[in-house]
Amino acid sequence: MKSNKKEKLGVLIPGMGAVASTFICGVIACNKGLAKPIGSMSQMGSIRLGKRTEDRSPIIKDFAPLADLDNLAFGGWDIADENVYEISIRSEVLDKNLLNDLKSDLESINVYKAVFDEKFVRRLSGNWIKNGKNKMDLAEQVMDDIKHFNKTTGATSNVMIWCGSTEVYMEPSDVHSSLSKFEEGLKNNHPDISPSMIYAYAAIKLGIPYANGAPNLSADITALEELANQTKTPLAGKDFKTGQTLMKTILAPGLKARQLGISGWFSTNILGNRDGEVLDDPDAFKTKEESKLSVLDTILEPERNPDLYNDLYHKVRINYYPPRGDDKEGWDNIDIFGWLEYPMQIKVDFLCRDSILAAPIVLDLVLFLDLAKRSDMSGIQEWLSFYFKSPMCSPDLEPEHDLFVQLAKLKNTLRHIMGEDLITHLGLDYYKS
Ligand SMILES: NC(=O)c1ccc[n+]([C@@H]2O[C@H](COP(=O)([O-])OP(=O)(O)OC[C@H]3O[C@@H](n4cnc5c(N)ncnc54)[C@H](O)[C@@H]3O)[C@@H](O)[C@H]2O)c1
Repeated sequence: MKSNKKEKLGVLIPGMGAVASTFICGVIACNKGLAKPIGSMSQMGSIRLGKRTEDRSPIIKDFAPLADLDNLAFGGWDIADENVYEISIRSEVLDKNLLNDLKSDLESINVYKAVFDEKFVRRLSGNWIKNGKNKMDLAEQVMDDIKHFNKTTGATSNVMIWCGSTEVYMEPSDVHSSLSKFEEGLKNNHPDISPSMIYAYAAIKLGIPYANGAPNLSADITALEELANQTKTPLAGKDFKTGQTLMKTILAPGLKARQLGISGWFSTNILGNRDGEVLDDPDAFKTKEESKLSVLDTILEPERNPDLYNDLYHKVRINYYPPRGDDKEGWDNIDIFGWLEYPMQIKVDFLCRDSILAAPIVLDLVLFLDLAKRSDMSGIQEWLSFYFKSPMCSPDLEPEHDLFVQLAKLKNTLRHIMGEDLITHLGLDYYKS
């Protein structure tokens, strides 16, 4: 595998909002010794190697040849002519004193004009937007931006990660069904090709790994998977698993492991950032709702456990409430039942910070996707399901939602990449004969 430790890795972000700016600020703050990358498994998590008696548990970044944090360069696209310092101030996630310490670094980051169409994100409008003769022309302009970015920053490889607003709900249609139809559609301005697909096309065409942090349809269409196979490009998505869904995928496997029944799971959120405003549009919310609802079914498998989960009523609400800004509050009421069907309740009130939870996910995805590319692993990277609410997987499989299975898969994939034995936790050697 080609090592990337000392080469510059360019991180390309369509959608320079709260998540993107919090991620960038955090990495720069770490590089200046002002912070630690808390929440990032690649930077802080360890990985056990070999038998327990060997006592080998390096930190992941010291085990796998991931890019160093001080070799990351950042660039992106958004719909307003603002630099990353201004975006960070407006997003109101991080302390102004910290932002002032990072000001000159943040101001120097390129934010290119967006490929944007209000039909897909109806609550926003902007004036920093590309014009082109058709959607193919817009994709070519994005590729030119990437070349310009690499030239100005010295980046020798890239990862693209969509941190843009959630686009409206869409089902795949004929234009998404093959690469030739999709390319024809780009030339004919087909209405079913969204801006996020145009960025994804540009990246994948150049062999740049692409991840989707939002729930909307993007690279998860046959046409772009075909292109990824041609250009040997890793793909991952979709919808960062933070806040409430993270809690859900921690709790549900535990309840199922103990064979406790669940009759109802009601989840409601209030949040007041721009993401919340976009999700106030029912069509954008539908995209998010589908993503949030899917997790319980695949974890609990009601078809295999009908007595426990067949009648489960699952409801998810998101309410835009401006006073909270980025500080989301997520409530869960879980109606469970146990021995002899006696009912019990669990209440969770998670006062979380959306972008603080999402930023380390962006970092890990960038580093792992770059590693995947250098390890010749192309197409859907199922081992990165750990980070997503709606993990991409091959069409004949159900996605894996259980956080602990996802974690085991991620670590075993790293062991595999590095030529170490996989860990089964069998431990037969330690039994007395
Ligand atoms: N923060 C979390 O915990 C979390 C979790 C899962 C998913 N997400 C998703 O991540 C995305 C980013 O979240 P956020 O809180 O940073 O939102 P945000 O509104 O602060 O940022 C999104 C940015 O995308 C820009 N944008 C929209 N369409 C664009 C386009 N076509 N090209 C370029 N820029 C475009 C917007 O102008 C905005 O600045 C959202 O889709 C959100 O649903 C966030």
